[in-house]
Formats: sequence, structure tokens, C-alpha cells
Amino acid sequence: MSSHDTSLKALNTFAIVADATEIITAHSPDDLVAAWGTAQKAKRPFLLLGEGSNVLFLENFAGVVVLNRIKGIEVTEWTKDWLLHVGAGENWHQLVVYALSHNIPGLENLALIPGCVGSAPIQNIGAYGIELQSLCEYVDVMNLETRDVIRLSTSECQFGYRESIFKHDYRDGYAIIAVGLRLSKNWQPKLTYGDLTKLEPASVTPQQIFDSVCQMRRSKLPDPAVTGNAGSFFKNPIVNIALAEKLKRQYPTMPYYPQKDGQVKLAAGWLVEQAGLKGFCLGGASVHQQQALVLINKDGATGDDVKALARHVRNAVAGHFAVWLEPEVRFISACGETNAVEALS
Ligand code: FAD
Ligand code: EPU
Repeated sequence: MSSHDTSLKALNTFAIVADATEIITAHSPDDLVAAWGTAQKAKRPFLLLGEGSNVLFLENFAGVVVLNRIKGIEVTEWTKDWLLHVGAGENWHQLVVYALSHNIPGLENLALIPGCVGSAPIQNIGAYGIELQSLCEYVDVMNLETRDVIRLSTSECQFGYRESIFKHDYRDGYAIIAVGLRLSKNWQPKLTYGDLTKLEPASVTPQQIFDSVCQMRRSKLPDPAVTGNAGSFFKNPIVNIALAEKLKRQYPTMPYYPQKDGQVKLAAGWLVEQAGLKGFCLGGASVHQQQALVLINKDGATGDDVKALARHVRNAVAGHFAVWLEPEVRFISACGETNAVEALS
């Protein structure tokens, strides 16, 4: 376990300037428990962070930030598949690269998603036609008070679109310490999304899919190392069919994705663009030119700048389309996570 200086700027991909009271790096479950104990004893808030790619700091954090850096990748080969047991502090993209370089396909559609492996189940990361839930065998979560480690199966994780039990019952007082992934030897390419549909299913290789995904992502999404951002700021809204059909009649080119339950997912980026907000700036924050669902730290934005911009975007989209967007990004105030929808209301 090691402590560092108290600046959070390099620890959140929005590059928002904020401080914590203390920042601790945890290399093991014991370190996590010790850090939890330190915070409890001092009666201070406690915040776990992976790589800070899905958080917005609204102000200084008045407590202990713990960086989960539990490492390790163990591969077990079975007749029909591989099982990867991965420490929560491994970098997600490096895991994708590692798997490909060991001729273990299946993760390539999820290349270049920032963050740690342990954070991936929390919002059930998804991109280019795949969600983590289709590969996830189990998640090991530790109760920081009792040290008990519970292994949750995929169904127990209650995965949904940008959803899981880790945002609810296992949010406070728990830490994800490892994730199990099962990757089939009967690999089938997933070529349903964007430029992937142009690839030839019979001959395409996992590496070609990886390359195509990386290329598409680099063309649309800003690199946090250059421009602060947290990916899609809002979730794509899922609306009832009556509203979706009404909008489709008004806007025939609107992207429209029917869901299994009869509801319809709309493209939030399209709604934001149609509301005329591409490139719109407020304070140091701005709506990204190439992808209107991404809010960026254009020029020294504060957490309040990003919040004010998000509120403006949300109200404008509701004004145009009667659809209320919900943030995907987690809002962090001085004492811990705060309800993002309420913060924007
Ligand atoms: P953090 O931001 O550090 O943490 C996120 C939340 O999880 C916080 O509430 C934190 O307290 C909690 N947490 C962190 N670690 C643990 C733990 N071990 N146990 C319990 N709680 C924990 N997401 C997608 O789904 N698809 C995409 O295509 C995608 N593209 C992105 C592109 C860019 C450029 C960026 C910046 C982000 C993108 N994201 C995407 C969002 C982000 O990458 C994911 O949400 C990622 O899983 C977050 O990982 P992290 O380690 O940075 O989490
Ligand atoms: N669109 C616009 N204008 C825009 C942005 C998008 O018209 O400014 C349209 C696109 O033309 C397309 C549709 O909206 O028809 C969807 O856009 P895109 O394919 O770029 O995907 P997205 O729905 O905006 C989602 C995820 C991303 C993920 C991509 C690829 C959410 C909230 N976002 O974005 O995840 O990488 O699909 O699968 O579900 C993230 O979660 O942080 C993230 C980046």
C-alpha cells in the first residue's frame, strides 16, 4: 500500500482539477481492507477508483481515494474454452491485447475501452455489438467490513444496458477484486456494428476486427491523453414505443433500435446533434465536434462547467424531443457519489 500527493487531476480522464484528503494505491485485497479501515477510523468518505474514466469530480473529495491496482492474469485452458481470472486492477485494453497475442479471441470488439478490468462489470461495458455480460463468467466482490469474498455468477450480477448490481446492492462497502471471463474456442466474429459489417465473415480474423474497432474509435472519440473526457456522457435513452414512433414520423432518419421488451433505444448523440449543440461551449467545457454524446474539457473546465453544460444539453434535448437523458458518468461530490440526474435537475 502506498500514499501519494493529493491531486486527482491525473487520476480522472476529464482532467478536472480536484484534490482528495488522501490517495492510497492498493495492490492487494488486504490493502483495500486497510484503506477502508483508515477511512472508517477517521470518519472520512471512501472512494474506489480504477482509472477515473467514468467519473466527474464536482469539487474536492473530502476523503480517502483508493486506486485499485490488484494485478494478475491466470489463464486456464479447457476443451471448449479458456477461462481468464483477472485481477481488478489490470488495464482493460491491455487485457484485450494480451488475449489476442496469446491467440485467445473474443475480446476484440471491446478494444480501446479505457479503465480497469474490475470496473468493467459495474456498467457492463459495451461497444461494437458486444457487452461484457456475454463473456463474464463471474465477478469476485469483497465486503470491506468483513473481508468476505463473494463470487457472483453472471445472472447474479443482474447485467443490463450500462447496468449491474454493482451500482446498487454492492455499491457501498464493497470492492470488486477479480473478474472471470470465459472465451469460447468456437470463435464467431461479431460484425453487426458500423464498419465491422463491411468485413468478410468467412475469412475475417480477430486481429482485423481489433484493428477496425481501434480505427473507428480513434476517428470519433477524443483521446483522454490529449483532450479530457469520459466517453459518452449520457446513456442512450430507452423510450416507450409510442414516443419512439411519434419521433420517427417527425424525423424519419432518426436512429431507432427496437429492444426485446418492446421499448426502443434512441441515439443520444443524434438527439444532441439535432438540438444544434455540436461544438457548443459553456465555460471550459464543450460538446465534442465528432461525437455529440461526448462532453470534453476544452479549456481548463471545472466540474461545475461540465455539470452546467450537461444540464444545458439535457434541457435542450428534452425541449426538442420530450426525452430526458440520464448521465452514464458517475458524479462525485465532496462526500462521495451523488445522484447525477438530481444534480442536473
Ligand atoms: P472509474 O471511472 O475509476 O470508476 C467508475 C465507478 O466504479 C466509480 O463509481 C468507482 O467508484 C467504481 N469503482 C471503480 N473500481 C471499482 C472496484 N474495483 N470495485 C467497486 N467499484 C469500483 N464505456 C463503455 O461501456 N463502452 C465504451 O465504448 C466506452 N468508451 C469510452 C471511451 C472513452 C474515451 C472514455 C474516457 C470512456 C469510455 N467508456 C466506455 C467509459 C469507461 O471506460 C468505462 O466505464 C470503464 O469501465 C471505467 O473504468 P475505470 O476503471 O476508469 O472506472
Ligand atoms: N450520431 C449522430 N451524431 C453524433 C453522434 C452519433 O448522429 O454526434 C448517430 C450516429 O450516426 C449513429 C448513432 O448516433 O447513427 C449512434 O452513434 P455511435 O455509433 O457513435 O454510438 P453511440 O450510441 O453514440 C455507443 C456507446 C459507446 C460505444 C459505441 C460503439 C452508449 C452511451 N455509448 O455510442 O460507448 O463505444 O456505442 O458501440 O451506449 C461509452 O459508454 O462511454 C461509450 C463511448
